[in-house]
Amino acid sequence: MTDIESLERDLIAKINAADGVAALEEVRVAALGKKGAVSERMKTLGKMSPDERKEKGPALNGLKDRITAAIEAKKAELETAALDARLAIEKVDVTLPIRPEPKGKIHPVSQVTEEIVAIFSAMGFDVAEGPDIEDDFHNFTALNFPADHPAREMHDTFFFEPKEDGSRMVLRTHTSPVQIRTMMTQKPPIRIIIPGRTFRCDSDQTHTPMFHQVEGLVIDKEAHMGHLKGTLEAFIKTYFEIDDVKTRFRPHFFPFTEPSAEMDVQYERVGNEVRFGQGDKWMEILGCGMVHPNVLRNCGLDPDEYQGFAWGMGVDRLAMLKYGIPDLRDFFAGDARWLEHYGFDPADQPNLATGLSR
Ligand code: DAH
Repeated sequence: MTDIESLERDLIAKINAADGVAALEEVRVAALGKKGAVSERMKTLGKMSPDERKEKGPALNGLKDRITAAIEAKKAELETAALDARLAIEKVDVTLPIRPEPKGKIHPVSQVTEEIVAIFSAMGFDVAEGPDIEDDFHNFTALNFPADHPAREMHDTFFFEPKEDGSRMVLRTHTSPVQIRTMMTQKPPIRIIIPGRTFRCDSDQTHTPMFHQVEGLVIDKEAHMGHLKGTLEAFIKTYFEIDDVKTRFRPHFFPFTEPSAEMDVQYERVGNEVRFGQGDKWMEILGCGMVHPNVLRNCGLDPDEYQGFAWGMGVDRLAMLKYGIPDLRDFFAGDARWLEHYGFDPADQPNLATGLSR
């Protein structure tokens, strides 16, 4: 075997044995690099006699070409293998089942509160809040409930144990005490809504000991029944998402408003469903009226300078009506299946631009 033949055999063996691109590169440098075995032999051609060169020249050039080609071929093979290995590791099985939907729903009370806030925010109202535990002054006296008047009894109040001075704190029976807190600390014009928890000792299909109200209060130099009607009618239409809801105002009594009214909405019952805007039945939705001059005076406002209107409505009842939920007690039973059925997607924030409910 000639020297060229044995070199070629040796290099081809090394090329075939290379287990990666880096190892192959080492073989290439050792053969074809500046000081590689093939290159060193090429350099000897210059010192040869013409005859010798004629014989060795083509042989060495052939060797160089074959080694170059063998390295190229091996390199392509290694690169394909590397790509295949990467593809195998990074493979995604698209037939796997998707991850389960995240669990969690927004409670109808939260949803409806957000809807009400969205509607009145668009009309320029602020949101005010107050404590669940109230004193007699804010819950009753300042709201013009006379001492020992039966109106106090009509609220089925939860009282706390009497304090040393004999006074008793209460779980607020309505959100109206926040009207007092606001009027005593803010200068008119006042335009607020007051969402919150309220408490009365009562329980049946449409009453629970804890329930929710949204109160509204507007105090300004000029504010009249027309404004009250317009505000509430606009609210009802937007809330129920229908244009032709009919409403009526029925005279009523509240100690803190004069005149006072209850607002009814016209509806019809079709099977289990309640439909608004048609039919011959009236459903009471809220209480309202012009703020009583005594209430303004109790808050340090001059009734000759300021007037106002107010209303209070049951959030839970508004939720039952809009979303067809039959029993109020289920609202607070903490049953995950109920929430799964009646709850709302946390990603859908109620707003007037994209729609209140989806
Ligand atoms: N506070 C009343 C209730 O709980 C509701 C109410 C009626 C609030 C008339 C008002 C109002 O602000 O003007 O039954």
